[in-house]
Formats: sequence, structure tokens, C-alpha cells
Amino acid sequence: MQFFLDTASLQDITWASQAGLIDGVTTNPSLLAKQAGDLDPRDVLKEICSVVDGPVSAEVVAVDVDGMVQEGTELAKIADHIVVKIPMIETGMVAVRRLTSAGIRTNVTLCFSSVQCLVAAKAGATYVSPFIGRLDDVGQEGMDVIRETRQIFDNYQMETHILTASIRHPRHVAEAAMVGAHVATMPPDVLRKLLRHPLTERGLEQFLSDWAALGQRVKAGA
Ligand code: E4P
Repeated sequence: MQFFLDTASLQDITWASQAGLIDGVTTNPSLLAKQAGDLDPRDVLKEICSVVDGPVSAEVVAVDVDGMVQEGTELAKIADHIVVKIPMIETGMVAVRRLTSAGIRTNVTLCFSSVQCLVAAKAGATYVSPFIGRLDDVGQEGMDVIRETRQIFDNYQMETHILTASIRHPRHVAEAAMVGAHVATMPPDVLRKLLRHPLTERGLEQFLSDWAALGQRVKAGA
């Protein structure tokens, strides 16, 4: 399974990338707005692309076909590994088709059902992003969408990759991996939590204190 970092924070992206933990990055207008401050969001994207070799998703904000295609084409000029994020709306599917024909990779975002994912795949999307945390938030089982989409894509040998989005905790990552999602995109705090377990911390403390006690005994006997 590939891990993407769902953030526009250069500090977090640099840490995760240097640790070899991530294969790509996803951003959205909210994440970029939070990070950019006075900077041009395109410059932030450029910097992200200089740190990460893998796919970097950047979202259009137009909602008409021509606007999305134009914005997507401009975003794709930032770097070869930019993937253009397009919302799951009717005009978006036409934009996906046009961008795909122009050789630009796309990520259809704001998907909340397996049939939306199927439609996006038929339009030619490189990735589909079902938002599982937001579904859980409204009392639905977000992981069901990942499971169903995987089954559908397998039934028809569809090449679109399932990018599990809106991940809230490590269990989401484990379940997405078990049902066969291709990618999990997660915020930096969830990536850090994947590394941790209270028994690991307790075990290490014990090992270190036992070793230190041995050192004192050896010194005392010397
Ligand atoms: C994915 O590409 C989205 O940016 C993201 O996962 C949304 O997550 P949220 O529901 O935590 O905002």
C-alpha cells in the first residue's frame, strides 16, 4: 500500500519524505489556504514538488468544464508529478476526460459512494478519493465504500487507483490496507500515530532501566 501525506505543511512533508515514509502528497484548497499565508499557493505546490518525487495532488477551484481544464493544465505545468484533483460533479467528469486525453493525471475528489467511484473510473480518472472519515462523521460506514469500490474495480479490471481519503486514525489505515485500497492519504498526526504503541514505549522504558541498573551493578563490583 502506498502512503500519501494529506497536508500542505512543508515541515511535515520534509520530515516524512526524509524518513522514507511517504510515496506522495495530497492537498486541497483548505489545506493550501491554511499553509500559504501571504505566499502564492502555486509556489507552495512548487516547493512540495521539490521535496517529494511521487504524485502531488493539487485541486482546481473552477466548477465549469473549461475553467477546470484550464486550471488543471496550468497546475500540471508546475511539475511532471502533479496530479490534478477534480470534484465529483457532472462537469468534472468531462474535465477528467479532457485532461486524461491530454496526458494529465487526475484524482476525483469528494467521492462518498462506490458508484461515484465507478463513474470517475469510467471517465478515466487515475485516482478516486472516497472520504471515509466524513462518512463516519455522519453515521455511515466509510470503509464500506472502499470495500465495494475494490470489488467493482476488480470485477471489471479497472485501472483507477483507490485513494482512501479523510483518514482520521490508524485503524482506518489498517482496514483500508486489509480491503485492498491502493493508497491511504493521511494527516501528519495519523502518520506519526502509526509508529506508536503504548506497549512499545513501556517496553523500551523497561529495557533501558534494566540495562542502566546492570551498569550500576557492574560499576559497583569493579
Ligand atoms: C483528500 O484528498 C482530502 O484532502 C482529505 O483527505 C480530506 O480530509 P478531511 O475530511 O479530514 O478534511
